[in-house]
Amino acid sequence: MTPRPIQIAASIICADWSALAQHLKTLESLSVDWIHYDVMDGHFVPNITFGPEIQAKLHAMTAIPVDTHLMIENPDAYIPQFADAGSRLISVHAEALTHLDRTVQLIASLNVTPAVAINPATPLSAIEYVLDEVGMVLVMTVNPGFAGQTLVPYTIDKIAELKKMIDRRGLDIDIQVDGNVSFEHIPKMVAAGANILVAGTSSLYHKDKPLPQAHAELLQAAQAAGA
Ligand code: DX5
Ligand code: ZN
Repeated sequence: MTPRPIQIAASIICADWSALAQHLKTLESLSVDWIHYDVMDGHFVPNITFGPEIQAKLHAMTAIPVDTHLMIENPDAYIPQFADAGSRLISVHAEALTHLDRTVQLIASLNVTPAVAINPATPLSAIEYVLDEVGMVLVMTVNPGFAGQTLVPYTIDKIAELKKMIDRRGLDIDIQVDGNVSFEHIPKMVAAGANILVAGTSSLYHKDKPLPQAHAELLQAAQAAGA
């Protein structure tokens, strides 16, 4: 199967919000593919971020599509609000759901692309049967909840196993990686089969690099995988 194009999802919790409008323009000028919007509830993960109202405001400020990563318990109760707030894609965690299939159907019924996310320690068997129904799998490469963490090394093999599983089934879906997606780790993540890179403090929002330079190095690192 032809490889799916590399896409960049800017992890907006990592941005400098003091000049957000200008920042979004910069992301547009760099043709960043997605705004990755991390929703944390203080229950499913030990941190709290923001909800659908802030997402709606963000969505109104940019033409870049919003990729909503729900790290919350009981996502069904909030999915319609996020759909109204402009999500193009919604990822839900397999670990948060007893009825994953039902939730995937709910997202699709709202004309939003459904995606399923898995934590580092969750086996691929947890999502095997919904692969036909989702547009993307989000492989967490750190334990979710905080930016700036260190890669869980075994997740690289897991990306490769997932890619094989997807190819065996003849499916054409995206694999997103989230967590310490750094210049160093990107080549092996892409070589394993990841094609949507969540870019946070490890790359696009690197503390020591101006954004256009970080963006160029990010693309170079992704290309290095094919070299
Ligand atoms: C982790 C978050 C990520 C995080 C990734 O729970 O989902 O979006 O911001 O960025 P870094 O590069 O800081 O790991
Ligand atoms: Zn995320």
